[in-house]
Amino acid sequence: MSHLIAVLPGDGIGPEIMEQATRVLTALGLPLELETAPVGGAAYDLHGHPLPPETLALAKRAKAVLFGAVGDWKYDKLPREHRPEQAILGLRKALGLFANLRPAILYPELANASSLKPEVVSGLDILILRELTGDIYFGQPRGMRTAEDGPFKGEREGFDTMRYAETEIRRIAHIGFQAAMKRGKKLCSVDKANVLETSQFWRDLVIEVAKDYPEVELSHMYVDNAAMQLVRAPREFDVIVTGNLFGDILSDEAAMLTGSIGMLPSASLNESGQGLYEPSHGSAPDIAGQGLANPLATILSAAMLLRYSLNEEAAAARIEAAVRKVLADGLRTADIYEPGTHKVSTGQMGDAVLAAL
Ligand code: IPM
Ligand code: MN
Repeated sequence: MSHLIAVLPGDGIGPEIMEQATRVLTALGLPLELETAPVGGAAYDLHGHPLPPETLALAKRAKAVLFGAVGDWKYDKLPREHRPEQAILGLRKALGLFANLRPAILYPELANASSLKPEVVSGLDILILRELTGDIYFGQPRGMRTAEDGPFKGEREGFDTMRYAETEIRRIAHIGFQAAMKRGKKLCSVDKANVLETSQFWRDLVIEVAKDYPEVELSHMYVDNAAMQLVRAPREFDVIVTGNLFGDILSDEAAMLTGSIGMLPSASLNESGQGLYEPSHGSAPDIAGQGLANPLATILSAAMLLRYSLNEEAAAARIEAAVRKVLADGLRTADIYEPGTHKVSTGQMGDAVLAAL
């Protein structure tokens, strides 16, 4: 029986990095059926919607989704519901992808890529676990209106709602503890409990869930302090679990600690093991189509897909070893290039990974 994989390249550099990732997946000789569909601005251009019904249906049918990137400035003037970003938000919600795993790893070969001193950051290997289908991203009500009360009554105002249901917090907390059990057994829950009710509720529930995991050392940190500690002493962390908005911000910060956002994959999982896998970087329309993009984050996302949705650990490890081999051989795309290494294009990087498999 073959596994259906939905391949959604998207915009900007999406198609060129996806091409390399699908070459790698295909070369493994596993029973995979790859089916491609448009998403984001590319889908809007073709069908007038960033997440056309056919694309959503394919994603729902598939065992896993491999996603490139969406977004381009040329869509900034569209109404919000037609902007490319709605495609990824819609997929997360429709597939119930509540658990977003964003590892931040500093590869020894790229030790100089970080803006932090090597003695602070070398060997960094942390996991940010971001809740992905709740919080202020999806809370209702939201909108713009005329204020009905308060000091600015009668003026226009914008508003969003931060909220978390008990089930949403418990299930992401469990994933956090389980991830910590498989790693360094340390979990840091990040919130803003000194100000926000949502966060106080979050913290109380995480403490309850902790009773099921006595071996894990649990700590709590306010998000402003966490942002500071991530640049002060990032290796103090093992797994960080946090809500949707804080996780969005902290995961970009953590990614940059490695100096190479073009290297970082991510996985978004639902309760039935179905997942969406995407590079942590965006669509970079400024360098699209020039062979400058780094395909490794997407290739490593394909490895995560094999590991988490298809249970193909050996194949996942094979891809990861091949990536480390090409880095050790000194091959670098423009984003991670430094003097003394060998600069290659997007396609040449794909060739090298294929050769190393
Ligand atoms: C991310 C992105 C998205 C988010 C955008 C594109 C909607 O920044 O995946 O981190 O905010 O979640
Ligand atoms: Mn983000």
